[in-house]
Amino acid sequence: MDTEQIVRTFVEFYEDRGHHRISGSTLLPPPGDPVLFTTSGMHPLTSYLEGRPHPLGRRLVDVQRCLRTTDLDEVGDSTHLTVFEMLGTWSLGDYEGVRSLDWGHRFLTEGLGVDPGLLHATVFGGDDQVGLDTASLELWQERGVPVELTVNDNWWSNGPVGPCGPDSEIFLWTGDTPPRSTPTRDSRWVEVWNHVMMRHRRLDDGRLVPLPQRNVDTGMGLERLASLLQGEPSVYDGDVFEPWRRLVPGLWSLDEPSFRLVCDHLRSAVVVIGDGVRPAGTGRGYVLRRLVRRVLTLLWRDDPSRRLGDLPVELVSHTLDHFRQTGDPALVHQMLTDEERRFTRLLERGRQVLARPRFRGPLDDDDFHYLHDTHGLPRELVTALRQE
Ligand code: ALA
Repeated sequence: MDTEQIVRTFVEFYEDRGHHRISGSTLLPPPGDPVLFTTSGMHPLTSYLEGRPHPLGRRLVDVQRCLRTTDLDEVGDSTHLTVFEMLGTWSLGDYEGVRSLDWGHRFLTEGLGVDPGLLHATVFGGDDQVGLDTASLELWQERGVPVELTVNDNWWSNGPVGPCGPDSEIFLWTGDTPPRSTPTRDSRWVEVWNHVMMRHRRLDDGRLVPLPQRNVDTGMGLERLASLLQGEPSVYDGDVFEPWRRLVPGLWSLDEPSFRLVCDHLRSAVVVIGDGVRPAGTGRGYVLRRLVRRVLTLLWRDDPSRRLGDLPVELVSHTLDHFRQTGDPALVHQMLTDEERRFTRLLERGRQVLARPRFRGPLDDDDFHYLHDTHGLPRELVTALRQE
């Protein structure tokens, strides 16, 4: 099954069970939201989880693009991407978590044909505020799916305050041997789907209070699911990366970890630009700038003549299409090369400034502030330039 077929099968499965498809939002949360980017499918639905009636009813399904910089250091492993799509379902005060898990299990095994013997679940084991999630535990036991109980790993929130709750996660075995051990002890168990029993709100003072309604919020990373179903060893080998695998090696010769980082960050930069962000020194624009600079630093490490201008526009248009963005691929491409030019100029200035006698010895905080405020050189860049 390719990615588009997975999306169709998923949406139809839930439409058949009374869910309405909503269109995913942009990566930019509404004004006033303290978070820079949408990090989860539930994020744009926060007010509905808190009780506001949704115009399309109490059962929703969608595909939402998400960006997670918290996972930046994990980018390059086989399962994490900076920008990815999340398949999501919601019960807004309608059915309970057990029904969601029951459908989830059916969708994976009957809808997608996953071998039920390759599944493992985790369930919230209870703490001093919220008890063991017995209903989820019993459902999995009934289904013959092994369960591991955890506390912190089975509590989900989108931030320090707001809607949250215990969750039950579904893992798929990716090892060459028959399944063994448990998800927290063996990383060959890969998490595919999280079902959150979103019934609580965390207040500023840390207390938990019940939400006005008992919701279920589920999220499943699409690229990860697709690569697992396609029997591929990593998300970078699934069908959405096919054009990158085909075109990038002819352009730049990169080892596998560098290939992954370059593809992940360029793809993310395209999507972020596609949602209207422009490179800047703060906020979202700075996240974009860091993505592009990390790519360039890596490309130039082996060959300073490499240029983003050589990146085939096909990769930009494929990415915009995949994320259903309508921006002009040539303009997005141009923005990447403009940013590359700014970075080149900054590096030239940085090298000149750092060659001054004053900066030859160890640098203190005043030096770093001066270099940043007067010459626009961030600390990490200064450190990198001094190691050249
Ligand atoms: N909101 C939950 C997650 O992102 C489903 O894992």
